Amino acid sequence: MDNHLAVRPAAVDKTGFDEQQVPLYYSKKTGDILHKYGPGPRVHFHVGLFAAGDAPNTTVAQEVIRRRLVDAQEAMVGHAAELWGVPAHPPAHLLDAGCGLGGTSLYFAQEHHTSVTALTIAADHVPIIGDLARKAGVADRVTPVLGDIHHLSDLHRYDAAVAFESSGYMDRGRLFQVMAHALKPGGWFGVQDHFLRRPEWIEFIDGYYKTRLGTLTEYISAARDAGFVLEQDEDITDRVAEFWVQSMAWTTLELDRLEHGGASPIARERLTESALTHGKFFRVWRDHSIETRILLFRLRAS
Ligand SMILES: C[S@@+](CC[C@H](N)C(=O)[O-])C[C@H]1O[C@@H](n2cnc3c(N)ncnc32)[C@H](O)[C@@H]1O
Repeated sequence: MDNHLAVRPAAVDKTGFDEQQVPLYYSKKTGDILHKYGPGPRVHFHVGLFAAGDAPNTTVAQEVIRRRLVDAQEAMVGHAAELWGVPAHPPAHLLDAGCGLGGTSLYFAQEHHTSVTALTIAADHVPIIGDLARKAGVADRVTPVLGDIHHLSDLHRYDAAVAFESSGYMDRGRLFQVMAHALKPGGWFGVQDHFLRRPEWIEFIDGYYKTRLGTLTEYISAARDAGFVLEQDEDITDRVAEFWVQSMAWTTLELDRLEHGGASPIARERLTESALTHGKFFRVWRDHSIETRILLFRLRAS
């Protein structure tokens, strides 16, 4: 596969979702993500997993909180991989669908010796993933590809695929059809994402992240239509809620730094909006108005 799959998102698809806003949103955000969750080489842009009941002290140095956020993100990937049986049966070739800056791709390449195709719709992610993979010593196993998952035409190429907080940007009907085509028979598709339970939150969350979150039922039905069965479903909402408190604390400390003459690549308005929003998110997650889950779908062998 070359490194430039079709990147031609329709302006507004038939469900009314503006697909062009997603690469635009990410090209503006890349520097912010590196500042808050970097320097890597494994840089993630998804929520983190805390131990049940763990609520670490937030009146500590900002660097302590940053490290904690990154550790929790790493814990998320490690936990999902365990749940999906990766240590016992690592996939030889994995598709990381909507890979962001490639943290998960590097994890699989480094920890499980997997060859990873790292697909993102954001053009400026591609050279960064290449640099980070070189720093991690796995450039030979991680292939960054620029493209829109909805146009992926690979056939029976991957043993497994994962989507960490990216399926919420995608048309699930098309996503599962593409995956059924791209995976080898019997292959699996692991998803970590947020699912709507209380519809009144949809506008607020989709507006903030430019997503189109769905319900678990919608995923399961799209998966079934494409020939998948749901094998695992773990609700991790309670272990994720703490991430919003820690993230809010980091952001408040970043605003304090600005007040005292410090510099930040993240605009003051965005920091203020983010602190307020993450406070709301904490309540939304605590109340299970949105749920975060780790799912495993397996493609029927025939
Ligand atoms: C919240 S980030 C998650 C990134 C990464 N999976 C992680 O956990 O760090 C969502 C990612 O999905 C990607 N994405 C969104 N829509 C996509 C599409 N249609 N095709 C490919 N990638 C897409 C974006 O480029 C972005 O990298």
